Amino acid sequence: MVERTHILGVGHAVPDNIVTNDDLSKVMDTSDEWVHQRTGIRQRRHIAADCGATDLGKIAAEQALSCAGLTIADIDLIVFATLSPDIDWPASASLLAAKLGASAIPAFDVKNQCSGFIYSLASADALIRAGRARHALVVGGEIHSTGIDLTTRGRDVAVIFGDGAGAVVLGRSPDPQRGLLSTHLHAEGKFAEKLWLEGAASRSRPRIRLEDLGGDDPVAFPRMQGRYVFKHAVTRFPEVIHEALAANGLTTADLDVLIPHQANLRINEFVAGALELEPHQVVNNIDRYGNTTAASIAIALCEAVNDGRVAEGKLVCLAAFGAGFTWASALLRW
Ligand code: ACO
Repeated sequence: MVERTHILGVGHAVPDNIVTNDDLSKVMDTSDEWVHQRTGIRQRRHIAADCGATDLGKIAAEQALSCAGLTIADIDLIVFATLSPDIDWPASASLLAAKLGASAIPAFDVKNQCSGFIYSLASADALIRAGRARHALVVGGEIHSTGIDLTTRGRDVAVIFGDGAGAVVLGRSPDPQRGLLSTHLHAEGKFAEKLWLEGAASRSRPRIRLEDLGGDDPVAFPRMQGRYVFKHAVTRFPEVIHEALAANGLTTADLDVLIPHQANLRINEFVAGALELEPHQVVNNIDRYGNTTAASIAIALCEAVNDGRVAEGKLVCLAAFGAGFTWASALLRW
């Protein structure tokens, strides 16, 4: 049994194409003031040409491999977190494995929205500690821009999401004191309809119809009861962070850095206040990327490692809340 898993390398990739709130206000009834005041978002990235979640994921994965000083030949497990797979099936993890030139190693997707990256981390950690893999590549990647309603009808959701990918390479910790301390996963499906994308649905015949794209509230686009989601998020985030700290005999006073999922800056500010963390302890980049769902924590982690906020010895908590509802945390000593 491997004692502890550690993150050996990080990487991220976003499209070059920047879409500001002012750009969106040209195609829908919205404004920079409304979006920034409510969410903290100033801009997000949208792919300009055809590009799948695994295309961005490949760039992020190659960076993470290089950061870890490894090649794809050293990887024996790939987990891909996404709610926007390149195609319906097979799994994006298989497509990514082919793009990276992986041999016949296990590869699977985790479709768990904003909590997908932490669920993937937990799955890979368990397989590594069980001796089933030596090095795992965990990637979160999303292309939202091709699946949102970029008209006034869809403005509540469309202004929030952005495209991007982040990746980590996991392996045995070089130091038993460092690495992933614990992960904590939750789901409550009774709230599924509060934030969901129903079409295309295997329970409908045909799975998608032309009228699914029309009307006031089309099922072919994500639908969200924003205030409802917000209220649950501000409860579940502190809860699952406390759960991770308590499981390791620690308190918020021990925490150096919190990397929350980037759904709304106001949610993250509320959580920071509830945990009595200083603003500099909380990593936020939603102003530049919007909500990149399964990619957001991995992108923020990569940026925080690169700028030195996450450094050796720091106690770091990753936390997420999103559709499902699902929520999760991971505590690690960097
Ligand atoms: N621009 C301008 N006006 C808008 C926009 C927009 N983009 N979107 C909605 N409005 C309007 C509404 O129509 C409404 O108008 P009305 O009062 O005339 O009816 C008004 O603004 C207020 O709408 P609310 O939805 O009540 O706005 P709220 O203050 O709740 O902010 C927001 C909306 C930002 C979505 C917020 O509720 C939120 O962030 N919720 C949480 C989102 C989240 O965490 N999602 C989870 C992650 S995503 C995932 O898991 C996949």
